[in-house]
Amino acid sequence: MTLIFAHRGSKGTHPENTLASIKEAVEIGSDGVEIDVHLSKDKELIVIHDETVDRTTDGTGAIKKMFLKEIKKLDAGSWFNPIYKNEKIPTLAEVVNLLNEMEFKGVLNIEIKTDKIRYWGIERKLAKFLKSQELSFSYIYSSFNIKSLIKINRFDKKSKKAWLIKNIDLESRNMIRFKNSDIFEGLHPNIKKLKSKDEIIKFITKKIRPWTVNNKEDMTYCFKRNLDSIITDYPKEALILRKEYNN
Ligand code: G3P
Ligand code: MG
Repeated sequence: MTLIFAHRGSKGTHPENTLASIKEAVEIGSDGVEIDVHLSKDKELIVIHDETVDRTTDGTGAIKKMFLKEIKKLDAGSWFNPIYKNEKIPTLAEVVNLLNEMEFKGVLNIEIKTDKIRYWGIERKLAKFLKSQELSFSYIYSSFNIKSLIKINRFDKKSKKAWLIKNIDLESRNMIRFKNSDIFEGLHPNIKKLKSKDEIIKFITKKIRPWTVNNKEDMTYCFKRNLDSIITDYPKEALILRKEYNN
């Protein structure tokens, strides 16, 4: 059965990467929750998608140049809907606490956002933090930056690492490196690219979890091929469709 991962929490119905969207994802029964992680100026692990706070809060500025105290002052919910005005940008520690409190038994997919800018020390910090925690759930690291995955493997050997790709090139150096290495457990491709080059499903002998699988046609495509998981903005719809599909 294909697992349903909620993208940035339940992004389609709640403000992305907030505790409200993660809580919703768990409450409706998502098998997994995907979040994005950056590093603040004072080296705190911050859960947000963009490199800046501009799009999803009432503030401006780059996470990299802001202290946690400044980040915490921002409203991360009103841009989506004023009823979420009390939502803040969470730290990874707050997300972990919430999932533990909810006794979440699924998978937390932590995307390391090192594709656009470099956060020195993020891999070590992340691995050290997660390994020090008692967790009710399991986790997978993912990144578009293959070097980040290789690096985090040095600090956290046993955990799963998945490579995120925007385009599919079966002959690229990184693809060959990925295919032949045991470091990587899975591939997280863009759903549109996957559909246009689906020979990769046989080519790659690893788990496949495409993103962002938001419509019925794409969801059914993944269920039919029994892909490991889908990453979707609409986990509730996906769970209903999967039930219909399996009946
Ligand atoms: O992890 C899947 C997906 O989140 C990758 O793209 O830009 O939404 O982080 P993005
Ligand atoms: Mg992401």
